[in-house]
Amino acid sequence: MKFPRKTHWTCDIKPELDGQEVTLCGWVWEIRDIGKIKFIVLRDREGFVQITVKKGFASDDALELVKKLKKEDVIAVRGVVKASKIAKAGVEVLAKEIHLLNEVKMMPLDIWGNVESELGTRLRYRAADLKRPENLAIFKISSTVVRAMRETFYKHRFIEVFTPKIIATCTEGGADLFEVQYFEKKAYLAQSPQLYKEQLTASLERVFEIGPAFRAEKHNTNYHLNEFISVDAEAAFMDYNDIMNIIDELICNVYETVSKLHEEELKLLKVELPKLKRPFKKITYDEAIDLLNKRGIEVKYGEDIPHAGLEVLYEEICEPFYIIDWPTEIRPFYTMPKEDDPKKSESFDLVIKGLEIASGSTRIHTREMLEKAIRDRGLDPEAFRYHLEVYDWGMPPHAGFGLGLYRLLMVMLNKENIREVVLYPRDRFRLIP
Ligand code: 4AD
Ligand code: MG
Repeated sequence: MKFPRKTHWTCDIKPELDGQEVTLCGWVWEIRDIGKIKFIVLRDREGFVQITVKKGFASDDALELVKKLKKEDVIAVRGVVKASKIAKAGVEVLAKEIHLLNEVKMMPLDIWGNVESELGTRLRYRAADLKRPENLAIFKISSTVVRAMRETFYKHRFIEVFTPKIIATCTEGGADLFEVQYFEKKAYLAQSPQLYKEQLTASLERVFEIGPAFRAEKHNTNYHLNEFISVDAEAAFMDYNDIMNIIDELICNVYETVSKLHEEELKLLKVELPKLKRPFKKITYDEAIDLLNKRGIEVKYGEDIPHAGLEVLYEEICEPFYIIDWPTEIRPFYTMPKEDDPKKSESFDLVIKGLEIASGSTRIHTREMLEKAIRDRGLDPEAFRYHLEVYDWGMPPHAGFGLGLYRLLMVMLNKENIREVVLYPRDRFRLIP
């Protein structure tokens, strides 16, 4: 099929281009017919441009075609930019040629904002739903978030790595593993790159990975999915305080970069990003439990803090904060106990707006200690043979964290449901599309 190539995106069409010939490709968002002149609002990923089709300027074919166009038809328009006081953005494109690249047959939902469909329906017809300007804004911001994170990692000499997602042993506890048939053997989908990223500190020193993690959790909440993107980092010769400093910088860079690059998208989403102050506050697990008990929320010492508890702590603190020094026994086996008080550990959770966004810690780096920690949790060291042996080969002291990308996006963009910020969410009841 022959068609002219896109020379400009809608966002490039500015009054300064007055008189220039351009080709735009995109979708028909709206058509207005005022007799002799017809207007098409063309959408592409970056926004909208008014296309004006009038006799004497547009080709005869274009004049014929525009009569038949429907919303969401895919078109290419060759025309001339005209600065205009009447057009919304102060500029329009006078069409010379219009090419119909594909005809829409139907749209499964209203993407024009007249009636917002409910989330379940939107996810069922997700590819269509993603054309909505709100969703274009969310996923452009999502891409910028990841880019800003990479910048911070590279600045601190982390390199990006990819570890296997089909694995033989659990990392975060056995209950939430998805089993897969791996030829004659049983394998699992990775819950986290935890063990691989730790091993890599013995060679690459500072690594990060942004990739999928799989959890067979049966929760059906607004902030759990069975597949999510985990932002993982691990660094040799650091402890949990060094790691929290890096997370502070990373989150602040994310907020600042998104504020700078996405003013319009944030306005559309009605989001005002706060200016965050570094370093983020830290409270110990003990302080958190005391505070909660004072507020009438009963959490026993040695138990995990439930989501409702985190929300209460947020009401008190009102900014992002860390809960540090968790009881060793409720953290994963690789977590380093505190030297002066081994019942506590060098560990943290980052909480933003009452939601756990990241977990991290200093890790154990000697084989003897790691083997004991595995046994203490009722796990079998034999299952970790290929991991434990690495600790004989010169493992450096190290620390790291895992951060849920979708959870961060959810709190940044004030979304009630994590599924809003995921292209094709996977939950207990959703495997298609
Ligand atoms: O707290 P988690 O389980 O920690 C780990 O995976 C460790 N390996 C991290 C480390 O380096 N020590 O998971 C990390 C983060 C959570 O804080 C949360 O933001 C996100 O991943 N997360 C989920 N997001 C969506 N759906 C789920 N089911 C999630 N489970 C965890
Ligand atoms: Mg956690």
